[in-house]
Amino acid sequence: MRTIIGTNIELACELLIRGEAVAIPTETVYGLAANACNPDAVIKIFEAKNRPHFNPLIVHTHSWESALNYTLEVPEIAHRLAAIFSPGPLTFLLPKKNNIPDLVTAGSDLVALRIPNHPITLALLKQLDFPLAAPSANQFGYISPTTAAHVMQSLEGKISYILDGGTTTVGLESTIIGFDEQENVIVHRVGGVTIEDIEKVIGKKVLMTETKDHNKPQTSGQLKSHYAPNTPLYIGDIEHLYATHRSSKTALISLSETYHELDIAHRFILSPNNDLNEAAQKLFAALRQIDELEVDVIIAERFPNQGLGIAINDRLKRAQAIYK
Ligand code: TXA
Ligand code: MG
Repeated sequence: MRTIIGTNIELACELLIRGEAVAIPTETVYGLAANACNPDAVIKIFEAKNRPHFNPLIVHTHSWESALNYTLEVPEIAHRLAAIFSPGPLTFLLPKKNNIPDLVTAGSDLVALRIPNHPITLALLKQLDFPLAAPSANQFGYISPTTAAHVMQSLEGKISYILDGGTTTVGLESTIIGFDEQENVIVHRVGGVTIEDIEKVIGKKVLMTETKDHNKPQTSGQLKSHYAPNTPLYIGDIEHLYATHRSSKTALISLSETYHELDIAHRFILSPNNDLNEAAQKLFAALRQIDELEVDVIIAERFPNQGLGIAINDRLKRAQAIYK
């Protein structure tokens, strides 16, 4: 199959209506989309990505009102959060209606719903009379794509069309939240909407989930090892990591510190101005670039544990997990 990158929303529409999988831009990362209500279309996502079927998919709609067509009941707190953060990088786990096939939710009674904040994909969704199931458009386990070219690297020959919406602005996947009986907000994956911002709206602390069984996770964002480059990566104190893991071909990832006294082959300084949003936007592209440099090891600073720094540290820790 020949894979083309383009900006033709009508063509993307036609392919999706025909039951094909199409890569689409969002503000977080690129997704690999198909008609969420059509299992024959959804199966193509799993095949192209090599994704295990136990891993459920996020369902994308153009508005919160439209998302409500696919869920049975919505706690008041979810409405409140959606009014503030949707469209945006926040995904809601809610009881599913029967119009969402079991394949999409991996048999779960909950469906993950998100309204992506990207003009091209919002326009696309408005032209369709079905929602789009879409995981990140990478091979399972690898780094999520933040440009159309990244999608091409991962899925060339497996899909026919990549809708190009430029470099994603957030750069990390959405925050995934669920709710308990007491209307507590449970964070299943940290991401583009910060915990602090959610807590400001709900007026109390969120609860965090921890996976008990890493092989059959509730969300793949909870797989211990995920989002991983091919190069071994270690996160922590740079001087210590340099002393223990350095080789002649070492890459460094840091926020703004240059560590110029250390002899390091490649430095990736994600935000000289200490802007965690900028660092989040650049992180995945840096990891992909480092994989191409064929260095022996990546050493990454621990980022400030606040704002998007929390999600950056989460992704770096998961990238490290296979080497620990
Ligand atoms: O920002 C994002 O969320 C991107 C863009 C494309 O929207 N999507 C994304 O999808 O990161 P994916 O599949 O790479 O990660 C979605 C996570 C997975 O960990 C999946 O297990 C979880 O959402 N998930 C989806 N549906 C679920 C469900 N019904 N119950 C529990 N977890 C679910
Ligand atoms: Mg993913």
